[in-house]
Parts: sequence; C-alpha cells; structure tokens
Amino acid sequence: MNKNSTEILSPEECASKIFEMSGAKFEPDMASDLWTKILQHKWLLSEKLTRDVGFRTACIDFLENMDQAIDEYMSYKRRDILTEMGAQTIGREVWDTISDSQPPKQLVQRRIILPLTELDLSRKHGVSPPKTIIFFGPPGTGKTHFVKAIAGVLSWWYIEIAPSMLLEDGPGKVGANLRRMMEKVRTLEEAVIFIDEFEELAGKRDQADRLDKSITNEFLKQVPLFKNEANKVLLVCATNYIRQLDQALLRPGRFDCIIPVGGLNNDERKTVLEYYLSQLNTGPIDLIKLIEETSRFTPADIQYLFEQVAQFAFEEEIAKRDDFRVTTETVLHLMPKVRPSLTDEIIEEFEKDTLIYARV
Ligand SMILES: Nc1ncnc2c1ncn2[C@@H]1O[C@H](COP(=O)(O)OP(=O)(O)OP(=O)(O)O)[C@@H](O)[C@H]1O
Ligand SMILES: [Mg+2]
Repeated sequence: MNKNSTEILSPEECASKIFEMSGAKFEPDMASDLWTKILQHKWLLSEKLTRDVGFRTACIDFLENMDQAIDEYMSYKRRDILTEMGAQTIGREVWDTISDSQPPKQLVQRRIILPLTELDLSRKHGVSPPKTIIFFGPPGTGKTHFVKAIAGVLSWWYIEIAPSMLLEDGPGKVGANLRRMMEKVRTLEEAVIFIDEFEELAGKRDQADRLDKSITNEFLKQVPLFKNEANKVLLVCATNYIRQLDQALLRPGRFDCIIPVGGLNNDERKTVLEYYLSQLNTGPIDLIKLIEETSRFTPADIQYLFEQVAQFAFEEEIAKRDDFRVTTETVLHLMPKVRPSLTDEIIEEFEKDTLIYARV
C-alpha cells in the first residue's frame, strides 16, 4: 500500500520509510518524531518552490540540514500565527507617556522589564522573569495601555485575544478555540499575549453554567503551560472584576504577578495632562488648576476631555478663521461634559481588592 502524508504511520513504519528513502537508520520512536518534521519540511519546500516536492527529496534535504530545516519551519509557522492573530508592533513612546511615578510603572520595570532585558543578571541571581500576569482595576485606568507599553518597551509583538474571537464558532467551541489559540501563541518568540475582559473566560466555577465551567477549567490547564515554555512569551490578562475570577486561578503557581492599576495621584495626572495638552494648539495653561480639577479622572476620562477640547478649538477656528489657542478656561468650560469615572466608593472597593488580591 502506498502510504502518504495523510495516513498515520506507526513508529516502525516511519523508521522503515526513512531508511528506504535515505539509507539512514533510526530507532522507531525517534523516527516517528523525525517523520513529522520531514513532512513539515516537505510542505515548506513545496511552498517555497511552488511545486510539489517528493518525499525522497524532502527526506534527504531534511537529514542533511536538520537544525536549519526545523528552525526554518518554526519561523515560517510563527509568521503565519502572527498574521492570523493580528499581531501588532507598538512604539516605545507608549511607555514614555506613563509617568515614572504612576503605579505600577516602577513595579513593572523591576519585576517584568528588567528581568527580561537583563537576562544574564537575572540568571546569575536566580530571578525568573514572570510569564503570566494579571492587571486589575476600575475601567479606564490604563490596564490595556500598560500592556501595550510593555510590548513597546520590550520591542515584542502585541497580540490581543478578545473573548469574542473565541466565540466565533458558537458558545460550545470556546474551550476548544481557547486551547488551539493558546497552543499556537505558546510557540511564538518575543510576544505579549493580552486577554482583556478576562472574567468572561475565567469566572468562578461555582457561579457559572456548565459551559462557563469548562472554559474556566481549560484556562486552569492552559496557564501553567506558559510557564513550562523556555521562550519569550508573556501572557497578560486584565479584568475590572478581580472578585469574579475563579479563586483557583489566583493562587500562586498560575499567575506570577497580580498587579493593581488604580487612579492617578497629582503627579501622575500631571504627566497625562501634559501629554494630551502637548497635542493641542495651546495658549496660557494653569496646569496646577487642571490637576486640582481632575482629581477623580481616569486616563480614559482625561483622554475624552481632550478630544472634546480639540474638537471645540477646531470648530472655533473654523467659525472665526482666527488662530484659536486652548487655555485653562477652554478646558474648564468643557469639563462638565465629562463625568469622572472614579467615585469614593469605587476607590474604596479597589483598595480592598488590592489588599486581598495583589501579589507582586
Ligand atoms: N499614562 C497614560 N498616558 C496617556 N494616556 C493614557 C495613559 N494611560 C491610559 N491612557 C489612555 O487612556 C485610555 C484608557 O486606558 P486603557 O484603555 O488602557 O484603560 P483600561 O484600564 O484598559 O480600561 P478598561 O478596563 O475599560 O479596558 C486609553 O485610550 C489610553 O490610551
Ligand atoms: Mg482595557
């Protein structure tokens, strides 16, 4: 019978196939692994040469350049995965928009960036760079912004997995889709994998219906697998509702760090305000006044406020055809349009969550 690539061969059959084609002898177990790689090499050669390359050619070529052939196939597959997952590159400047004093910038620098960039020193001192991280905090406080900033400062790929991507084939397939995606992204190099609205995938099992339970279970299995890989892939999950996550996920052993991202103090708001003001055509600005007036604003609120200011300035100049400069009064005039996201209650709850859940 003519065995082809779609048939599954026993280890003994693999060994005899390889021997028949190249004269090289291998133990059956090793031959089985090699045969898979030879098939991959055959596929890659055929893609490159745009014609079907025979088994014999692929086998001989593979055995002659084994390491290179494996690397080449892996990097080809990685490129495929990056395209499929919509991988993005993020500029270093995102990191610079975050004030040095803004929590958790220093922490992220110490625990995540430095151990990954100073690999020799982290090895010397037995520091293992974290591979799995949770950011939690109220909406709009900059969790997504931080994850992008990390990818930017490391010059790694940024890949976002939204729960909706996993739902594409219907609710019954979420667990299987999650496993498939995780298997793919784990093979990448230098990538930050970001899962937003994490609570939708990893909610408490005792409050979930059967389907949700199976997704949470899948997650429980997948997270430790990231830690077993020796490659540079960081899994970062974010949630506004840390209390809704399954407690088994939060125990040490699954996530290396659980990092709170809260409101901004005066100094931190100053940096964010300066950043957004620098994008405008400004006149005199009383920064201290603006810092005072925005005490309950998240970065998202500040961003929205300045979108309003920009539009207002633009329309004023169109109406009057005279250079319009944004001043403190312009910003204060538009401020009532923005309802600050943070309330005393939200801050209090966040502080409680920080005491209970933060692990850095
Ligand atoms: N330090 C910062 N400087 C400038 N802009 C910032 C900063 N942090 C966040 N932003 C901006 O504020 C907006 C909200 O931030 P982000 O989306 O990261 O919040 P989030 O915590 O992920 O919110 P959600 O919980 O709703 O997903 C974004 O548009 C982001 O670009
Ligand atoms: Mg977000």
